[in-house]
Amino acid sequence: MDLLKRLLAVTRLAFAGILVIVTQCAAADDYPSRPVTVIVPFAAGGPTDVLARIVTVHMARTLGQSMVIENVVGAGGTTATTRAARAPNNGYTLIVGHMGTHAAAVPLYSKLAYDPQTDFEPVGLLAGTPIVILARKDFPANNLREFVAYVQANTEKLNAAHAGLGSVSHASGELLNSILGIRPTGVPYNGTGPAMNALVGGQVDYMCDQIVNAVPQVKSGTIKAYAVATQQRNPSLPDVPTTAEAGLPELEVQAWNAFFAPKGTPPAVIATLNAAVSKALDDAVVRKQLLDLGSVIPTPAERTPEALAALVRSEIARWTPLLTQNWH
Ligand code: MLT
Repeated sequence: MDLLKRLLAVTRLAFAGILVIVTQCAAADDYPSRPVTVIVPFAAGGPTDVLARIVTVHMARTLGQSMVIENVVGAGGTTATTRAARAPNNGYTLIVGHMGTHAAAVPLYSKLAYDPQTDFEPVGLLAGTPIVILARKDFPANNLREFVAYVQANTEKLNAAHAGLGSVSHASGELLNSILGIRPTGVPYNGTGPAMNALVGGQVDYMCDQIVNAVPQVKSGTIKAYAVATQQRNPSLPDVPTTAEAGLPELEVQAWNAFFAPKGTPPAVIATLNAAVSKALDDAVVRKQLLDLGSVIPTPAERTPEALAALVRSEIARWTPLLTQNWH
């Protein structure tokens, strides 16, 4: 009799397991069957928001469902990222994370409520975003060398804008500060969209920001750009020298933005989303929009979930010593 009971128990377990797999496959087969929420951890109008909107407009056409952007701000993007980590893993809540939320935040928040490497399924890279050193249009320096001399001589009087502890603008600004040995007053905003408004308005002195947030303002002369922190000049701002050309080779930062889903999101759903991102990045209209803003469009090899997982790992390894030793 015991053998029969054990056989029945094993059969029930096997059936339950098959039912789960069949249900997941059925769910993945018709995914998405309703709109997908895409959390952007910063204010509307900033680089992450703009990139997310450009790419999701095309993805929605591929997926046949709308992708609804939800801006959730606070704590350098970690508020939203925590919420995304705890969202249902059914593919209907994604987040656009980046070098800040999924790397720089790790050394800066001792009690970070998520682990970028284990609480998410990487979906795919959206765009590389070179960092530019920007200043208000009447800042008393006409090139990077003069900027460096001025900020080193006047650091206690200067206000540097960023998007909160651990954001891309904060992390790259901290790297600049440590290279120059300066301690300006940091002025946090809910994103570099609002920070840019303050810079254009002259309420803050300078900031390190992702190029996609600065091209229109630099071209219209409402702010100054001293250098781009990549090895090559950027085609969207061909007259802006690289940091190496301008005498600051130590500052080399290309940030990035990427889609992540909560841990446990079915592989078939991840594959569907990854294919839709890649299709968007191959679309001529999307590519022009991204390139005109100075984005670096990922190659096919850089677009895989595995490549994104490796990028998160290497970026945490890069930023942890940089921000631990210099963060007071
Ligand atoms: C934004 O979209 O506001 C930026 O990505 C914030 C940041 O500097 O990380």
